[in-house]
Amino acid sequence: MQIMGVDIGGSGIKGAPVDLERGDLAQERHKVLTPQPATPEGVAGCVAEVVRAFSWSGPVGVTFPGVVTNGITRSAANVDKGWVGVDAAALLTRELGGLPVTVLNDADAAGVAEMTYGAGRGRGGTVIMLTLGTGIGSALFTDGQLVANTELGHLELKGHDAETRASVKAKEDGDLTWERWARRVSKYLAHVEMLFSPDLFIVGGGVSRKPEKFLPLIEGVRAEIVPAGLQNNAGIVGAAMAAKAKAKA
Ligand code: BGC
Repeated sequence: MQIMGVDIGGSGIKGAPVDLERGDLAQERHKVLTPQPATPEGVAGCVAEVVRAFSWSGPVGVTFPGVVTNGITRSAANVDKGWVGVDAAALLTRELGGLPVTVLNDADAAGVAEMTYGAGRGRGGTVIMLTLGTGIGSALFTDGQLVANTELGHLELKGHDAETRASVKAKEDGDLTWERWARRVSKYLAHVEMLFSPDLFIVGGGVSRKPEKFLPLIEGVRAEIVPAGLQNNAGIVGAAMAAKAKAKA
């Protein structure tokens, strides 16, 4: 079975039909640049462009880089503030000519995909997926069950919003070496561990492609830490899974 998944990111909006038996893209993904400012109308137009590239006419799952409850976007840390309070599912359904759309947080989508097809497969207990990118996204699982919209990227660390210290953007903006950045990530993970005592951390985002650069440098964390298995496509796959779950319900 195939379902369309689209991942809205701070720099790119990418999507493809997903083969849900394999948990992988069924076709090469289509990507457009995120409009700046990333307003609801501008982004919705880009999502439609991605979906149209595949002449798609079934359910569509879409990730959003903020809190999403019942299709409504509730926060907008790295996109235009105009998203707060928008019925994103209704907006995208309109833009897509009536196709059923399911919207969920980007890290939740990536986490759900990792728990089914990737690094978290078969793992019980408490698992926390963290996506390190423009911001820091989180997905919390207890015995495989997602607790949605945890927003652990905005925990406060030494008086700072954690994602402004330990995201990949913070590394790039501050021109930090892997060593310096890994020290910050270590402190962040230790803080999350102090609060939740996870059995496993799954680290995703673009950096999960280069785990050898920083995972060996992480210190002071008891839990097992593994890189994401699906890497950059986890959001797209998780979006499609969420759309399928909703279509069944
Ligand atoms: C947002 C989260 C999102 C994460 C990754 C954070 O700034 O608040 O909702 O999951 O960035 O995009």
